[in-house]
Amino acid sequence: MFKPRLQGLSAALCTALLLPVGAHALDGQHIMVHGGSNPAVLPCISCHGADGKGMAAAGFPRLAGLPADYIVKQIQDIKTGKRLNPVMKAMSDVITDDELRAVADAYAALPKVNVAAVETAALVPGSGAWIALRGAWDRNIPECTLCHGPSGLGVGNVFPPLAGQPTSYLENQLKSWKGNPPAKVGMRAAKAPANTGITRQNDPNGLMQHIAASLTDAEIKAVAEYFGNLADTTEFFDESQHRLR
Ligand code: HEC
Ligand code: HEC
Repeated sequence: MFKPRLQGLSAALCTALLLPVGAHALDGQHIMVHGGSNPAVLPCISCHGADGKGMAAAGFPRLAGLPADYIVKQIQDIKTGKRLNPVMKAMSDVITDDELRAVADAYAALPKVNVAAVETAALVPGSGAWIALRGAWDRNIPECTLCHGPSGLGVGNVFPPLAGQPTSYLENQLKSWKGNPPAKVGMRAAKAPANTGITRQNDPNGLMQHIAASLTDAEIKAVAEYFGNLADTTEFFDESQHRLR
């Protein structure tokens, strides 16, 4: 087990998180930094990063700029067991509805991921970039950007961004929907129904389950690397510009 990393948080970063953005957001920022009213709700920043951009090395996801409704849905899905994760389950069980909404709103208010323009001219068929931008329609796999938006920046409240998430996190999620062959069933899968290794079943209409099951493990790795390597830029986020890509 890993220990939450609280050290190394500079005062400047803490202050940056505490900028007043309204009463609700203020509560949310308090939860991010100090945890919830129930001590089992740990400070989110200890795992999701002081800036909310996740921790790539540990595979902890980015929350900064994710839609508030998506965040709320994930915590509810983890609570009801549609998405299995022991670490987040302990917190999801005891966070109050008001705290959840406040912290979700506060994360949604942090900067969204932004990426530099993607070069699409020289795509190699079958590569991660190809699957991301062209799909594999011979196997009914749509391009990821069809739902996750140009450059994988996310669309509305339902389709989360893939750009900006750590590669290992993206790979884990796809494998959570796909399940593991029995030989590889590990701790994560132990509680899965019928030991299929499927630990995430919360996608509307099984959209992601179908896609993950149709991808080979090598393709999952490649497409996760593609989105994981789209670097966050500090460029001003211009939604109209991304729609053209
Ligand atoms: C001890 C570490 C830890 C702490 C503290 C923590 N998380 Fe997490 N969180 C994780 C891990 C690990 C995952 C990835 C779970 C998985 O692989 O399914 C995660 C996933 C999530 C997700 C799903 C993200 C997505 O893109 O679907 C949300 C939302 C989330 N956490 C919210 C929070 C909030 C809000 C807090 C603070 C109240 C918090 N977390 C505190 C470890 C932590
Ligand atoms: C038909 C629409 C659709 C397509 C196409 C699609 N997705 Fe998704 N994807 C979704 C939805 C909806 C969710 C959110 C599920 C939920 O609520 O938990 C999602 C979630 C995800 C997540 C979890 C993100 C997170 O923060 O936890 C990953 C990873 C993902 N998709 C990868 C992909 C990849 C890779 C492709 C292309 C091979 C792809 N998706 C294509 C609809 C789609």
